[in-house]
Parts: sequence; C-alpha cells; structure tokens
Amino acid sequence: MEKNKFGKQGWTPERIGNLNGKTYVITGANTGAGFEASKILLNKGAQVVMLNRNEKKSNKAIDDLKGQFGSDAKVSFIKMDLAELSSVRNAGKEVNEKIPNIDALICNAAVAQIAKQNFTSDGFERNLGINHYGHFLLVNLLFDKVAQSKGRIVVVASEGYKMGLKTIQFEDMNFDKNYHPNNTYCHSKLAQMMFAYELQNRIKRTNKEVKAYVCHPGASKTSLIRKDSPLITRVMWSIMSSLPIVQSAEKGAYPEVMCATEDGLDQKAYYGPTGRMYWTGPVGECKLEPFVQDKTIMEKLWTISENQTGQKFQL
Ligand SMILES: NC(=O)c1ccc[n+]([C@@H]2O[C@H](COP(=O)([O-])OP(=O)(O)OC[C@H]3O[C@@H](n4cnc5c(N)ncnc54)[C@H](OP(=O)(O)O)[C@@H]3O)[C@@H](O)[C@H]2O)c1
Repeated sequence: MEKNKFGKQGWTPERIGNLNGKTYVITGANTGAGFEASKILLNKGAQVVMLNRNEKKSNKAIDDLKGQFGSDAKVSFIKMDLAELSSVRNAGKEVNEKIPNIDALICNAAVAQIAKQNFTSDGFERNLGINHYGHFLLVNLLFDKVAQSKGRIVVVASEGYKMGLKTIQFEDMNFDKNYHPNNTYCHSKLAQMMFAYELQNRIKRTNKEVKAYVCHPGASKTSLIRKDSPLITRVMWSIMSSLPIVQSAEKGAYPEVMCATEDGLDQKAYYGPTGRMYWTGPVGECKLEPFVQDKTIMEKLWTISENQTGQKFQL
C-alpha cells in the first residue's frame, strides 16, 4: 500500500468542490455518521435524500439541518425500513419516481451488537437482514437510476469484518446454532463488503459507468450501540467513547463522503481512518484482508441474496 495520497492530514471535506446540482441518497441519515455526511454534502450545495425508518427523528434531523443551512437547504426524507423488504421496495419506487439523478447512493444504515437473536419481518437474522439483504435489494432497485447518472454506490462497512467468522456462514445464515452479538454483526458487514466487490466485478462486464466503493468510519461516537446491546458492550463503549481512541461522528463520516465525491479512488481498495488499529486518524486507504474478495463465496452470496430478496439483479 502506498503512502496516504491525500497527504499527512488525509482526506478532508476541504477537497470537495461545489456540489450544486448533485444528489446524494443516504440510508440511516437521521443520526450518526449518516447525519454528519448529510451536513458535509449540504454545506457544499448538494441535494440530500435521506432514507430513514423513523419519521419523527427524520423530521427533527431535517429541522436541524435547515436551521443550520437555511430553509431552502435541499434535504428531504423518504420512509424506508430496511427490516422489511416491502418497505425497501416502496422506498425504491418512490426514489425512482421522484428523484431525477443519484450521484451516489450511500449504504450507511445499520444495526449492531444486538444482544439476542432477532429477526426482520421477512424472517432474516436482523443484522444480515437489515445491513446486507435490505441494502442489496435497495441497490438493485436504484441501480439503473445510479447508472443513468454515472454515479456511485458507497458501502459503509466496518473493521469488524475481520473480527468475526471471516467467511459467510451459508449453512446457518440466521445463526440459529451460534448467535453471537459481535460475530453476527461482523458477518453482516463482511457480507456487505463482499456484495460491493462482487458488484464491481459484475459492472465491469457491462457498459455501465457505475463505481462501487467500500469504506469504514473507524471507531466513531454515534448511537450504534443501543439499549438492545449487551450491558458489557454498552459499558465498554461508553468508557472507550470518552477516550481519544474514539473519534467524532463527523470524522466518521469523512470516508463515506470521500467515496461519494472524490475522483481517482481505487474501487478495489478499502478506505477509512488510517491511524492506530484504523479506529481514528487521517482518512486514506486501509489494509484489506484477502478473504473479503474470495470469488467463490462472493458469487454464492450474490445468488443467495437474489433468492432471499426475491429479485434478480439486472445489470
Ligand atoms: N460508529 C462506529 O464506531 C462504527 C464502526 C464501524 C462501522 N460503523 C458503521 O457506520 C455506519 C453508520 O452507523 P453509525 O455509527 O452512524 O450508527 P447510528 O448512529 O446508530 O446510525 C445508524 C442509522 O441506521 C438507521 N437504521 C437502523 N436500522 C434501520 C432500518 N431497519 N431501516 C432503516 N434505517 C435503519 C438508524 O435509524 P434510527 O435512528 O431510526 O435507529 C440510524 O439512522 C453503519 O453502517 C455502521 O455499521 C460504525
């Protein structure tokens, strides 16, 4: 891996030019890194469409953003619950009807560290269902719109991809036998990454000019650890968050905004903070473990994802 191409400070939003006329669709943007990404993009004149599950929180987020950027700030929300494929379909339809261009679709929303095995309304283990299957279907539904705009797909992953099983547990995707709050979350983030790298491979076989990028926010002070996380995780996270080993949610948003806006990035790379353990520090390219791009597993996961979401991916 070469030196950080953005210099000692790494990538920062100062590199972004005027984004007037550009549209960014972000999942889970009412809080955390997605909210901070929205701020950065709005500040540069872009339009932001949030795909969120909670109407009240979304309205509050929009009020906050309009308070900051003015009542004519181009920010809106479309309701979408990634835990319900029918809701993803409805949101996909609405976006396709209402939004003329998508310069980047940022797959940012996620759940994590859920103490007990739990399911989406379609019967998928919750981490995999929301983080991977929900986004897999959404990208599928919006792909043509992104392609018309020669846009990008950005997958927000996690360093956790290398802390779990390091493969996809095809024989028990719902973790009926070995549910574990961290391993199961890490499994879903690995699935998201494998999807993105396989998407690149498949786009290459077409004449479509869509780019797909993978990044992670390091360790960032957001609301990802919640009431349904194990007590020990909540206590540890609260202690860690008070130390400089964890960065702000704003810094956590840099990698996804970079992947949505910066030219000349390498699609096969993996971007995020490059400091200690990749938790904080200047944003640039991070080491990617080779098992993420295991072709056999990526292809098998693709087929299963099409079957589970009930929709072939037409590229
Ligand atoms: N924070 C970290 O240190 C860290 C580390 C590694 C990776 N990440 C990744 O960074 C991304 C952003 O997370 P964050 O840290 O900013 O967490 P966050 O503050 O909890 O934000 C997550 C967002 O996802 C939304 N969401 C959750 N379930 C959803 C569903 N079923 N349908 C639609 N939206 C849903 C949440 O909506 P509600 O507010 O309605 O719940 C929220 O807007 C995630 O992909 C996460 O895996 C974070």
